Amino acid sequence: MSYLTLAIGSGRTANKAMKLLSKAGIEFPDFHNNSRKLVIFDEKKRLKLIFVKAVDLPTYVEKGAADVGIIGKDTIMEERPDVYELLDLDVSKCKVVVAGFADREYETAKSLTVASKYPEITKAFFEEKGIRIETIKLNGSIELAPLIGMSDVIVDIVETGTTLKQNGLIILDEIADVSARLIVNKASYATKTNQIQQFINEIKEVLE
Ligand code: PRP
Repeated sequence: MSYLTLAIGSGRTANKAMKLLSKAGIEFPDFHNNSRKLVIFDEKKRLKLIFVKAVDLPTYVEKGAADVGIIGKDTIMEERPDVYELLDLDVSKCKVVVAGFADREYETAKSLTVASKYPEITKAFFEEKGIRIETIKLNGSIELAPLIGMSDVIVDIVETGTTLKQNGLIILDEIADVSARLIVNKASYATKTNQIQQFINEIKEVLE
């Protein structure tokens, strides 16, 4: 039986995903927190794990370079990959929010400059609200943008709320609750159905 290739986004989801796999009895002897290895196998050689940049993960799964992937719902909402989303892993729970200063006009604004690493989510949300926006796409430290006058508000994920608080920003609107999801390449699901279903069942058991 050939192995399944599982993509994991390096960063905040990776450690939580590794813990979940370990709970399910799937161990990776070569995994260490500060390891720089990008490809590792589980001890039974059923899974080949590849670590990829989170924002690229949907592409790896959509193109079939990985059969399955574990990725935040925020990235799925932004990238809209043509894949199956089969399981909510109930870890890495965050909110996608609009944040900014408490004392500035928001609800009544006709136009806003918004900094975000999620331009598609931002566009859809403000279109619905009928607010005209200019989006500034950034790749990190989004909270800095309103502090230095580069944007009126930001669209970003909040987990503990510490980053907002320490920078004097508050949540102005909530867009979505997000968590880590299991996504599956469509062709792989057709050709490796049993393997993928068995993997999903093993994970499901530890979620219950
Ligand atoms: C994310 C997000 C916020 C922060 C929120 O950034 O963009 O900045 O985490 O977490 P908190 O509510 O627990 O403070 P990340 O750590 O991924 O780094 P980045 O700024 O480089 O994107």
